[in-house]
Amino acid sequence: MGQEKFIFEFSGKKIEKGAFQWSAPSNIALVKYWGKKEHQIPANPSLSFTLTNCKTITKLDFQLKEASGISFDLFFDGQPKEEFKPKIQKFLERIVNYCPYIKDYHFIIHTENTFPHSSGIASSASGMAALAVNLMQLEKALNPNLTEEFFNQKASFLARLGSGSACRSISGEVVVWGTHPEISGSSDYFGVPFDGQLHTVFKNYQDVILLVDKGEKKVSSTVGHDLMHNHPFAQQRFEQAPENLSKLKKALESGDLETFIAIVESEALTLHAMMMTSMPYFILMKPNTLQIIECIWSFRSQFKVPLCFTLDAGANVHLLFPKKDCEKVLEFVENTLAPLCQNGHYIVDEMGFGAKKML
Ligand code: DP6
Repeated sequence: MGQEKFIFEFSGKKIEKGAFQWSAPSNIALVKYWGKKEHQIPANPSLSFTLTNCKTITKLDFQLKEASGISFDLFFDGQPKEEFKPKIQKFLERIVNYCPYIKDYHFIIHTENTFPHSSGIASSASGMAALAVNLMQLEKALNPNLTEEFFNQKASFLARLGSGSACRSISGEVVVWGTHPEISGSSDYFGVPFDGQLHTVFKNYQDVILLVDKGEKKVSSTVGHDLMHNHPFAQQRFEQAPENLSKLKKALESGDLETFIAIVESEALTLHAMMMTSMPYFILMKPNTLQIIECIWSFRSQFKVPLCFTLDAGANVHLLFPKKDCEKVLEFVENTLAPLCQNGHYIVDEMGFGAKKML
């Protein structure tokens, strides 16, 4: 299926001005997206859990204007934020062919994150997703015939053009982005909700994010993706990811936590292995990241709790576990893992459903 269906056709309807507000959550990849082709096409399919508490809230004010062209003001936590403008400008330029109406309006964008600044948690996924759903709300106002499915698909399609992983933050508890033969409707252009029957053990699955290092990322993910070009192990990696996705799909349906843990932890370490073996090479884990991993492994074998970890492109550790084990795990976090976090900080989150309209 082509991308042409996402090109907006003028409906004849004009709206003078208005405002919308949406929240969009962050997501945590279990099968990682690392490596891309031109136009934000992923080198392999990825799968993520959608989060609930870590989210971006974005308000979009729009006003019809005379001259045609991209025009907006940007506020972050209520303050003008010039540094963020180029990224948004680039995003709007990338999507303007699909959403030509954006040239008719001046936008005032107010955005804020629920997670602390410089927590090492990337806000690009939730941020781009929140902006994309707001723009789709405007599109829906101009063309009220849009179906919910089209709304979500195009929002995900647009978000992807802002930041790849953002396309997995629109709708669904578990989202797959990238064509995969076993996921019906899957596409390189947008994320789709996992079509399998999620086993009950994964309902409200917990994610405690251990903030090991809140500093700026040493390598931006865009640079990281680039390093997969001419990477000696790229080809094997791009073949391994879809295989892991197949295995994970089965585990998500059967509730096989042993396989789930093996795939999720291996994916996290493979992502870091790719960074360590690129040229130039990077180590984004910190000593405490490894210490935490050791602690998780001994806790798991000692108490038989199916707790596992994943990592994104940084030092922070995501702890994943079933809701029923909350009490035991939170006690372990408080006593053993929090002291290994920067200022003892961690965030308790859980699986959620995606973007929500607030206004
Ligand atoms: C390690 O989506 O941030 O989190 O498309 O360049 O914006 P861009 O990259 P981005 O990459 C995310 C990489 C990752 C793995 C993942 O989320 O799948």
